[in-house]
Amino acid sequence: MHVLVVLDHPNPASFSAAAAQHFMNGAKAAGHSVELADLHAEGFDPRWSMADIASDEGGTTPEDVITEQARVAKADAICFVFPLFWWGMPSMLKGWIDRVWTWGWAYDQLKDPELSLQRARSGVLLIPAGARSDEMQEAGYEAAMETTWMHGTFGYFGFSPRKLELLYGAKGSPERRTSLLKQSYDAGYALEHPHVAE
Ligand SMILES: Cc1cc2nc3c(=O)[nH]c(=O)nc-3n(C[C@H](O)[C@H](O)[C@H](O)COP(=O)(O)O)c2cc1C
Repeated sequence: MHVLVVLDHPNPASFSAAAAQHFMNGAKAAGHSVELADLHAEGFDPRWSMADIASDEGGTTPEDVITEQARVAKADAICFVFPLFWWGMPSMLKGWIDRVWTWGWAYDQLKDPELSLQRARSGVLLIPAGARSDEMQEAGYEAAMETTWMHGTFGYFGFSPRKLELLYGAKGSPERRTSLLKQSYDAGYALEHPHVAE
């Protein structure tokens, strides 16, 4: 498979960047080709603008969106890597998703979140988080992510299967971080093929 890894972190020495690298190493060891979309390094503009609105209304699609959509088109699997910020995505990746996965290209209806215009792709959200797993589960944050992302967003994009791979306690001890990087490698190695509907 061809795997696109989309990273949202400005610091190449961050834990998130290391998790992305380990995920890619695992995917390569399993025989997949990988491409990294390092959104900060590439200077992607995440601001939704009048150009995006004009495109949505049938006008010309902005060049940078066309470039990103071509990148997505080549991928059989997509992994988003981003630090959990206020139980959500940081703004760079949020903007990339809002601008690139457009109405008429990714989806064209809202009644069934499992219907996409895109072919099936394996999808992974690899998310370093400061919190522990018990904190996240007890407060309902993880259930909220399941609802918003797994049910409410990534079906529209054709992601099937889709995996929420939380790296809990990412600011913890060196031992903790080593085991989370192994979890990242394993997620890349075990990447499933897309589930194509019969
Ligand atoms: C603005 C901001 C918001 C954050 N919000 C959360 C949060 O809601 N839940 C959480 O578990 N960690 C939160 N964190 C902690 C980050 O998830 C943690 O610092 C990150 O996963 C560490 O990865 P990094 O070293 O690659 O930045 C937040 C950190 C920042 C800077």
